Amino acid sequence: MKKPLLLFLLILLSFASPAQKFDKLALTPPMGWNSWNKFACDIDEKLIMGIADQLVETGLRDAGYIYINLDDCWHGQRDSQGFITADPVKFPSGIKALSDYIHSKGLKLGIYSDAGRTTCGGRPGSFGHEYQDALTYASWGIDYLKYDWCATENINPMSAYQLMRDALRAAGRPILFSMCEWGNSKPWTWAKETGHMWRTTGDIYNCFDCIDDHGNWKALGVMQILDLQEGLRQYAGPGHWNDPDMLEVGNGMPANQDRAHFTMWCMLAAPLILGNDIRSMSQETMSILMNKEVIAVNQDSLGIQGLKAEAKNGVEVWLKPLTGGDWAFCVLNRNKESVNYTVEWQRFNMDDKVSNRSTEFYKTTYNIRNLWTSKPEGTTAKSVNLTIPGQDVVIYRLSPKIKK
Ligand code: GLA
Repeated sequence: MKKPLLLFLLILLSFASPAQKFDKLALTPPMGWNSWNKFACDIDEKLIMGIADQLVETGLRDAGYIYINLDDCWHGQRDSQGFITADPVKFPSGIKALSDYIHSKGLKLGIYSDAGRTTCGGRPGSFGHEYQDALTYASWGIDYLKYDWCATENINPMSAYQLMRDALRAAGRPILFSMCEWGNSKPWTWAKETGHMWRTTGDIYNCFDCIDDHGNWKALGVMQILDLQEGLRQYAGPGHWNDPDMLEVGNGMPANQDRAHFTMWCMLAAPLILGNDIRSMSQETMSILMNKEVIAVNQDSLGIQGLKAEAKNGVEVWLKPLTGGDWAFCVLNRNKESVNYTVEWQRFNMDDKVSNRSTEFYKTTYNIRNLWTSKPEGTTAKSVNLTIPGQDVVIYRLSPKIKK
C-alpha cells in the first residue's frame, strides 16, 4: 500500500478506537545507551555500530543494557511528501539498515524527535507530522522514542504527548515512549497512561554538585537532580517511571562520585541509560556499570522507588523495598570530606505507605550484604560503624534472617 494512503487509514482508525500506550514494555526501568551526553550532535552510523559491538563485547548487553538510542541530530530533511529522512552523510545506509544491524546483535534501537517544529538541535520536529513519523519509525524497526520539548511555542504538553502516543499505537509496532518535557507540566500527575517514562528535570550536567548556568536554562549536577526527585516516588511503578535523566558515569567524574551517582539512580528506580563512550571506558567505570547486585536493586520487579529516610549534616539514608522481604539500605555522604556514621537500625523502623511495607528492625533481623564490596557484613542485630569517603556511598542489601 502507498505510504500516504496507509497514513490516511491509520489516522481514520485512531479516531475509531481510543489509543493506549503499549503495555509491558517497561515493567522494570529501561536500560541502554544514548548518544547525547558524550557525543551531542557528533554522531554517525559507524559510531553507533561500534557502540553496539561494544555493548555486546563488554557484557553490558547481558547485564541488561539493551536499548541503543540515537539522540538529536540524526535527521536529514523531510521528503516531498513530508516523510522524515536520515542525514545522508552521517547515516548513508539509512536507519532501517542500522536497525537491522542493532537487532542482529540482540539489541533494540531508539530514536529521538520533538513535539515542536524543530528539535533542540534545530532539526525537523514532529509537529504536524506525528502520524507520519510514527509510521516511519515503525517501518524502520524502531523500539524506543525519546520525544523532546523544544520549539513547542504554546502547545499543550498533555495533548502533544497523547497525540504521539496515539500515533505510535496506530502505527502498530510496540515502541517504548520516553517523554522529555523536563518536568515542566508535572507529567507524573497525568502521564501514567501516556508514556513509559518522563523526565522530571532539566538536563543533567557532568558534575556531582553544581549548576551550569546558561542564562535562559540551567544544567544540573547529580545532587541537584537528586534533590528534585523529592515527593515523586508515589508516581513511579512498573511501566511508568520517573526519569532523572541519563547517566554521566564514565564522563570524567572521579570513581567515588560516579559510584554515588549510579547507586542513587538505582535507588530511585530510574531508567539506566548510559551516556559515556563505552568503546574506551576504564575498568573502574566498567565495574561500576556492571555491578549486577546494584543493578538488581534498580531492576527489582516490585518497581518501587526508594525513599529518603534521614538527612543530616550532608549524610542521607535511603531505603528501597525489594522482593522477598528484602530492603536496599544506602548511606550517601554528600560532603567532600569522609564521615564516620553509625547505623542504629532501630532508628529506621517505619511503615512505608507507598509500598505498604514495614522495616520492622525491632522484630526482624536482617543479614547484611555490602553491594560494592560484594561481601556479607553480619546482621542488623547490632549497630554498624561506617567510614564513608567524601561524595561516596555505602549500599547494603538486607535480607530477613530470623523472625523473632
Ligand atoms: C534536550 C534534552 C536532552 C537532549 C537534547 C538534544 O536538551 O533534554 O536530553 O536530548 O535536548 O538536543
